[in-house]
Amino acid sequence: GAPVDADISHLQPGQMMTVSWRGKPVWIVRRTPDMLKRLPEMDPKLRDPESKESTQPKYATNEYRSIKPEYLVVVGVCTHLGCSPLYRPAVNSPDMEKGWEGGFFCPCHGSMFDLAGRVFQGVPAPTNLVIPPYYFKTASIVRVG
Ligand code: FES
Repeated sequence: GAPVDADISHLQPGQMMTVSWRGKPVWIVRRTPDMLKRLPEMDPKLRDPESKESTQPKYATNEYRSIKPEYLVVVGVCTHLGCSPLYRPAVNSPDMEKGWEGGFFCPCHGSMFDLAGRVFQGVPAPTNLVIPPYYFKTASIVRVG
């Protein structure tokens, strides 16, 4: 599959955009400082907080699972049976469990992921969402693939 370029110049803090890569949705989320601050707090509730059993490039093997902390680039396909989760960035979104700090919710069987795509404990999805290969072609163009 060919790489795809995403123009992130109009992406506001807290917003998500989607591009299609190899027939799959790839989400780009511009995380706010507050969203980033909540990530380490989620670690005890996660199945694989350090992404040891999950798929991401080496350069995205860190707390934020990204090259630049501000931008999450992630394949929007649930690691359970392949549904596309919903973006639920707000703390305590109504369809979430208590203590939800914002992230992604899969409506098919209820898997939850944080704003780094890391899976919660006790849900069907076995691993974190996949981080695709990508790089910043310019400050405002992300090349996926
Ligand atoms: Fe997402 Fe089953 S496909 S929870």
